[in-house]
Amino acid sequence: YYLGIDIGTSAVKCIVVDEEGTVKGSHSAEYPLLQPNPGWAEQHPEDWWEGSASCIRELLNKTGISGEDVAGVGLSGQMHGSVFLDEELNVIRPALLWCDQRTSKQTAAIERTIGFEELGRLTGNRALTGFTAPKVLWLKDEEPANYAKVRHLLLPKDYVRLQLTGELGMDVADASGMLLLDVAGRRWSREVTDALGIPIEWLPPLYESADVAGRITVEAAARTGLQAGTPVVAGGGDQACGAVGVGVVRSGIASVALGTSGVVFVHDDKYTADDEFRLHSFCHGVQGKWHRMGVMLAAGGSFQWWRNHFAQEELERAQQEGRDVYDLLTEGAAGAPLGSEGLLFLPYLTGERTPHPDPQARGGFVGLNLRHTKAHLTRAVIEGITFGLRDSLELIRSSGVAVHELRLNGGGARSPFWRQLIADIFGIPVVTVNSTDGPAYGAAVMAASGVTGRSIPELCEAWIRVVTREEPIAANTEAYEAYYEVYRSLYPALKGAMH
Ligand code: XUL
Repeated sequence: YYLGIDIGTSAVKCIVVDEEGTVKGSHSAEYPLLQPNPGWAEQHPEDWWEGSASCIRELLNKTGISGEDVAGVGLSGQMHGSVFLDEELNVIRPALLWCDQRTSKQTAAIERTIGFEELGRLTGNRALTGFTAPKVLWLKDEEPANYAKVRHLLLPKDYVRLQLTGELGMDVADASGMLLLDVAGRRWSREVTDALGIPIEWLPPLYESADVAGRITVEAAARTGLQAGTPVVAGGGDQACGAVGVGVVRSGIASVALGTSGVVFVHDDKYTADDEFRLHSFCHGVQGKWHRMGVMLAAGGSFQWWRNHFAQEELERAQQEGRDVYDLLTEGAAGAPLGSEGLLFLPYLTGERTPHPDPQARGGFVGLNLRHTKAHLTRAVIEGITFGLRDSLELIRSSGVAVHELRLNGGGARSPFWRQLIADIFGIPVVTVNSTDGPAYGAAVMAASGVTGRSIPELCEAWIRVVTREEPIAANTEAYEAYYEVYRSLYPALKGAMH
């Protein structure tokens, strides 16, 4: 068996798969998200480890699988989060997460110090508030006493690796989101670390995702029920792992991951970046390959906000009828016509990254009239999120890449209504696959690759099958085109009012 662990933002999820790639069981454990100030988001790395250890133990217990029968472990996790460790490898302060927006001053300073184009040339990316390097500079500016103690920097899942194996290490896919990696060269960028005054010695050894990066220690074995000596592969950030988990490991296919954030992800055989670095250009979890992605900060997050505050009736019905509240909401939305009769929703509830790198962007409904009902508003939320994702697809298309199939991943993939809507708005067939465990599944594929020597694409070919397919309806695609044009015009027109 292979174990995949995904250190998410709200919970850790562990799955175990057999030699044929069939999932034999899964388990999750939640941990708190700290928001000490508006726009801040932090977590205790110790919570990730405690959660992971108990999750692995529970999973083994409930499946009856013995630790001895687990041949390898793979790690996935939320990207960009800053784990600051001192000389003794102790955590110095809570980690700043991917969705933390406090570093605008530092991103501006990075682009000033290195130069926008030079930074892009060295790292493949622009400086965004969510990335790791600005978090390190924030610590230097705002908490110098803590900064003085730092000797090691890790990403979230790599802290769990440290506890499992005693080893410091990181894969190039996750490392790409630090803004300290030469993404084209798959190595740390001394030019960037020197220019920012971040000691390169703080950065761990780099691996490809399927490389074995440590083995379970005796202490970790006692905590988790795994066997000491079991190999742990490097793994990847949750986006690379999620893409592997649905088989986006060759050119021509892209994925859309609909979680809290929304990500349009495309595989690249060669390193590619656009002139303005609007898409993230990162190393893929597939050896020697790259990927690009556009990241919307509040995709599922916008829908969740809508459910939390405006779906009292559906929440009650869901409880009475034992149904999913999102299903009831999408059923309601299907009752409103395509385009929500001119109502548009801007999904920038927590600022935005792609295509508008603007922590101060805000959401809104535009075009309300007296005919609009709740069904229209719900539909507009779903359409607005999907238009936001289409912006990222357009950036991919404009680089000359033809995408002929979209694989859907995450909670939104369950809804046939939303799948059809994406197919219509994107004008591309949308499919889902048999593996529905996202990043944890990708991490298990990486573990299997590291242990057996079979390549990741070979394992994806053997294990992953398409199970649903929605074709775009030409008349809908055409009708949406006009709404999309209006949607695109709104952020530039309203930006002044948001700031
Ligand atoms: C990717 C990103 C998010 C997190 C979510 O760049 O910031 O998708 O990885 O866990």
